[in-house]
Amino acid sequence: MATNRTFTMIKPDAVKAGHTGAILAQINKAGFRIVAMKKTHLSAGKAGEFYAVHAERPFYGELVEFMSSGPIVAAILEKDNAVEDFRTLIGATNPAEAAPGTIRALYATSIGENAVHGADSDENANIEGNFHFAGTEMF
Ligand code: RTP
Ligand code: MG
Repeated sequence: MATNRTFTMIKPDAVKAGHTGAILAQINKAGFRIVAMKKTHLSAGKAGEFYAVHAERPFYGELVEFMSSGPIVAAILEKDNAVEDFRTLIGATNPAEAAPGTIRALYATSIGENAVHGADSDENANIEGNFHFAGTEMF
């Protein structure tokens, strides 16, 4: 059953390039409400823990290095059908395949450095939100 919350990160490439404001504006315009948000810098250990599901994939080392290379913006977002609608808003993992106008089509530079993360299920959205935020930081 769909819930109304998802989890996102604006990744180090997009933060470094100065796209944070534009991406947040696009997210708000698409009807998502910000439940929790912070700018933070993941250690390699924390990034590895977050993406542990990909530990056996060939790109894991690169992914951990990239995600700990600079500050990110982490947020919990609320909207009807949040997980699915947010994945639609960000576009395909590979920006070359992302639909025009999606966040990745606009701001991602490669399949690895692809500007934003979006949770892929209600269960993972909840786990990932709790990884970054305490209950007292959600409003
Ligand atoms: P995300 O979890 O970050 O929202 O991305 P996603 O669901 O669209 O893609 P996923 O398969 O979960 O992959 C997680 C992240 O790993 C990096 N990646 N690099 N070099 C590669 O072939 C490759 N494939 C994936 C990307 O940063 C991707 O978003
Ligand atoms: Mg994923």
